[in-house]
Amino acid sequence: MEVRRVPFFKPSISTDEIDEVVDTLRSGWLTTGPKVRQFETEFAGAVNARHAIALNSCTAALHLALEAVGVESGDLVIVPTMTFAATAEVIRYLNAVPLFVDCDQTLCIDPLKVREAIESISAGNPTGGLKPPFGKLKAIIPMHYGGHCCRMDELIEIGAKYDLKIIEDAAHGFPAYYRADQESEWKHAGTFSDVGCFSFYANKCITTGEGGMAVTDDDDLADRIRLMSLHGMNNDAWKRYSDRGSWYYEIVAAGFKYNMTDIAAAIGIHQLRKAEMFRRKRAAVAGRYSEQLSGLPAVETPQDYTNTRINSWHLYSIRLNLDRLTIDRAAFIEELVKRGVGCSVHWKPLHMQPYYQDSYGLEAGLFPVAESEWRRLVSLPIFPDMTFDEVDYVGGAIKSIADDYSC
Ligand SMILES: Cc1ncc(COP(=O)(O)O)c(C=O)c1O
Repeated sequence: MEVRRVPFFKPSISTDEIDEVVDTLRSGWLTTGPKVRQFETEFAGAVNARHAIALNSCTAALHLALEAVGVESGDLVIVPTMTFAATAEVIRYLNAVPLFVDCDQTLCIDPLKVREAIESISAGNPTGGLKPPFGKLKAIIPMHYGGHCCRMDELIEIGAKYDLKIIEDAAHGFPAYYRADQESEWKHAGTFSDVGCFSFYANKCITTGEGGMAVTDDDDLADRIRLMSLHGMNNDAWKRYSDRGSWYYEIVAAGFKYNMTDIAAAIGIHQLRKAEMFRRKRAAVAGRYSEQLSGLPAVETPQDYTNTRINSWHLYSIRLNLDRLTIDRAAFIEELVKRGVGCSVHWKPLHMQPYYQDSYGLEAGLFPVAESEWRRLVSLPIFPDMTFDEVDYVGGAIKSIADDYSC
């Protein structure tokens, strides 16, 4: 088999983005300004939300969202263990405590386990590796794994019953949609909760290089997020320096420096217009992979749940059936790399990471689904301009490894 190179991800950037960035550079206004405002307005329209606040990362959006809903030192926040570092580290920024919960087979947080954890905490029992006394339980952060939405109807019901705020980590979820059943309306990921947080990091479904967006329908939360995104100043820099603005501002809180630049927004404006086309192309890649790989005993392909989900397909993560292979996941990835295929693993569960183990005495064995699934996860290349030829090459590489190492 001739070795080719298929990268894990390649952004789709055309002259639209390049010309808009050049226009921004020539305009003389580089930081938060008219292009950011345009991107915010168009993004809010795309997800059908009242407010969209452009930021320099999704991590910033998650941090500001938790701060805005009132998470304070010592509070507990429920978070999936199967997620990226950012989802939980923002809880620590506020000196609050992450209460990890296991995922279901879709790799999204399991609402039944969320309910069990809440009831166990209320009864004062040791829960999720934490021991009493507990702080106040304030919020849940569901994360839409790979752009497959969580069971939001159940989580919303839980949030309402126990008076918990919900912040969606929709880093992978643009565009992605969910409905509880076929009679319900489709709604965009990130718009089910108090605040939805999106990422435009380089390898995300749409990119601004680095960037993020917080969306909410709540005027007070939007005001607080905007205020805290720029030093807690009650008048933003654009207004201060433009003809329409005033030189005068007041600092009303110790805020952060999380604003998006116009250079980034210039890219985002055009990526946003192509987002649905990108999604359809990624869905076609996912469909082709599933055709190629289904029926292969060594591999499980991701399920689609088309009645209730429109998946963004940010990730295409297969699971190895390790009992059908003579090699483990690490060796399988090495074989893929030898065949020129870029791949990744999303993720080693956070409760197995040294920082959380050392800080909270968490141990392996607490969250069996995440622990058993992560050992067999491999994320394959997926990006809008990936050709079927490339997909078939990756599929062929997987089949050849499965042939060489099957048992
Ligand atoms: C699930 C999840 N949440 C949050 C983030 C953080 O996004 P950003 O890099 O924009 O801060 C990422 C980034 O990969 C992610 O995968």
